[in-house]
Amino acid sequence: MKKPVSVLVLGAGSRGRAYADYSLTHPDDMRIAAVAEPVEERREAFRKKYSVPSSMCFSSWSDALDKGRIADAVFICTLDGMHTEPALKAIDLCYDILLEKPMSNREEECRAIVEAAEKKGVHITVCHVLRYTPFFRTIKQCITSGLIGDVCVVNLRENVCYWHQAHSFVRGNWRKSSETSPMILQKSCHDMDILLYLIGRRCLRLSSFGSLKFFTAENAPEGSAERCLDCSVRNECPYDAYRLYLGENTEWPVDVISDDLSLEGRRKALREGPYGRCVFHCDNTVVDRQSVNLEFEDGIVATFTMTAFTSDHTRELKIMGTKGQLVCSMDKESIVYTDFLTETERVIPLVNLHTDTFGHGGGDYLIVKEFLESIDGKEGESLSSPRVSLESHLMCFAAERSRLNKGEVVEL
Ligand SMILES: NC(=O)c1ccc[n+]([C@@H]2O[C@H](COP(=O)([O-])OP(=O)(O)OC[C@H]3O[C@@H](n4cnc5c(N)ncnc54)[C@H](O)[C@@H]3O)[C@@H](O)[C@H]2O)c1
Repeated sequence: MKKPVSVLVLGAGSRGRAYADYSLTHPDDMRIAAVAEPVEERREAFRKKYSVPSSMCFSSWSDALDKGRIADAVFICTLDGMHTEPALKAIDLCYDILLEKPMSNREEECRAIVEAAEKKGVHITVCHVLRYTPFFRTIKQCITSGLIGDVCVVNLRENVCYWHQAHSFVRGNWRKSSETSPMILQKSCHDMDILLYLIGRRCLRLSSFGSLKFFTAENAPEGSAERCLDCSVRNECPYDAYRLYLGENTEWPVDVISDDLSLEGRRKALREGPYGRCVFHCDNTVVDRQSVNLEFEDGIVATFTMTAFTSDHTRELKIMGTKGQLVCSMDKESIVYTDFLTETERVIPLVNLHTDTFGHGGGDYLIVKEFLESIDGKEGESLSSPRVSLESHLMCFAAERSRLNKGEVVEL
């Protein structure tokens, strides 16, 4: 009988848990053999949830990897600046790796990961989860089947959503590009990657504009305070932390603010932790709006817009070909095709892929499934190998350079 793939999880945070959940629904395919997590409460909760032996729980990725090979595969789910070292060490130990994006927040480190992985011949899947979703796979099929003729223009918009921006990019982990990554790499590397995937050509040059304009001290309303608790105008503020975190929901994003999700635990987190701060009085530096103009091979052009200022949390695309167009909305799972010849419209059904969970439109589930299948058979390159991912990472680094240089055109 086939043995389940044993996995060492580095970082038992939000992403580590999202991928580890696969072992609960598919114990015959995957089991969590070990975990490394410095926050004791989190490590203990993870140990219990996934039945990890105490002797296989470590307080740092380095302690776990110092043990040599203790599992078949490693999931690297630490924060952005802490991917390269564990990745290089895990490659050295010939582990197969599920590696969170961005591979690294430094260009030279991304290249080092690609080189080391190819030299050792280990299998790495970079977590560009959107590629694995039924939604984007269906769009890709429409394009490769020639349904809309030759692709000429793509418009893609990432609606981050006002509360998600406040949570992750004003108060939370990814608020400072110097600590983690700039927005274009942290969040929109998925978008650069999906443009490459759908267009299927190399990006030749790009330029970018964007800034942090709204979530700054100058925009703090009269009567506001450092923390929402002390604010006299919080009832008029859509970003009020009490409104966002003290409701019924205790799942993401609320589960990020504390390991104690009782009402009192959450109140304490808002009184003392980063998520109770006024959005106009944080130490955030990442943009709240950005656009990128891109030219691909064969004259294909694309525009990308990231915006904090939406009520929905989705991606919307219009793909324009010589024979027809596709208008697509990810959260609605809607792909509408219009044929230029007959001027008829038709809704395209999504490819039928089973997913147990809906994280990232099913991408969280399918990426783990396909990772396990591919390392089992050891065949073929991953849909999001480090070599493939390097292209979109380089586009992100170039876009950030352009943005910081007043939108100058950067050749790739
Ligand atoms: N693929 C996606 O769509 C997607 C979505 C969100 C985040 N991410 C990426 O996933 C990564 C993790 O994000 P997250 O939301 O889970 O963050 P998180 O803060 O919830 O989890 C990171 C965990 O790493 C732990 N950690 C810190 N030092 C460590 C060490 N020395 N050894 C082991 N663990 C250590 C932290 O304590 C924390 O629990 C980030 O790089 C992020 O950019 C990817």
